[in-house]
Amino acid sequence: MSALANRISDRLEILTASQPVHVASFAEDVRHGLQALPRWLSPRYFYDDLGSTLFEAITRLPEYYLTRAETEILREYGWEIVRALDAPFEILELGSGSAVKTRLLIEETLRVQRWLRYCPIDISPEALHESASRLVSAFPNLSITAYAADYFAVLGTGDISLKHPVLALLLGSNIGNYEPVRARELLLALAATLRTGDGLLLGADLKKNPEALELAYNDPTGVTAAFNKNLLGRINREFDGDFDLQQFDHVARYDPGRGVVDSFLGSRRAQRVRIATLDMELDFDAGDRIHTESSYKFSVPDLGALGAASGFALKKTWFDAQHRFCVALFLRT
Ligand code: AVJ
Repeated sequence: MSALANRISDRLEILTASQPVHVASFAEDVRHGLQALPRWLSPRYFYDDLGSTLFEAITRLPEYYLTRAETEILREYGWEIVRALDAPFEILELGSGSAVKTRLLIEETLRVQRWLRYCPIDISPEALHESASRLVSAFPNLSITAYAADYFAVLGTGDISLKHPVLALLLGSNIGNYEPVRARELLLALAATLRTGDGLLLGADLKKNPEALELAYNDPTGVTAAFNKNLLGRINREFDGDFDLQQFDHVARYDPGRGVVDSFLGSRRAQRVRIATLDMELDFDAGDRIHTESSYKFSVPDLGALGAASGFALKKTWFDAQHRFCVALFLRT
């Protein structure tokens, strides 16, 4: 990543890709995805300012148990997690978001070592700036080098400068957004950045009954529907589109065979949509769907196999009291 460095204080530096790569690729992905059959949009574009706010709201929904279950695990077992590695280590986080859960691990880490360097990578510069500023004020012995970028892109460049050992974090079941081949590629790219003995702490949602899963992704309050439809809103705002959000339905289905909740936007009726800036015209029939997200679910053996296929050995797992979510520690082999 050719990066612009912004040193905010002696303990906080934020690096931004000098070319806003993701802006260009949003246009490209919209073009590719909406012209393909079946139609698709990538979930990475959910997280503009409004989308990030809607996701925060999702994490507070009674039906979306994932964030609460993972937070419970980190509160309950954070002390044990940080002691499973040799201190001192640095923390590298892929997709830090608001970093509310990470805060628990930072706090525990500063009980086993005097200083900590934390390197969060997040696609949203606003979320990164806000969470990093809050963390450096809360912890005097913390220094942060943050990367406002797509974490796939950053890992590819080898631009991250880490002193080893490292504890890498991939929390929130974000791994579930990747197709299995892509998930392995991501972990392989991470393994290439790490060294033997470094840790990877992975938060993953567990396979469970379809009713509970579909309710988590189709809440009766309608927040997840708003989150999904915001993708169309974002296309309207950024590319002068005329999607009528009222004419699309949010759909979420669990496929137990593949272990994945698929989210779609379904056209309510036959309609034509124009996206002026991209010079696109799209025709939808009633019931036509755009695939917007895959949220893969895992068993513990699934996690072991994923690690083994990408350079990580599963060391230990922790669960919430209701066994809905798993936090797994891997060691780079
Ligand atoms: C942030 C990708 C883990 O798939 O559960 C929440 C996003 N989508 N509700 C997930 C999401 C719909 C979430 N991840």
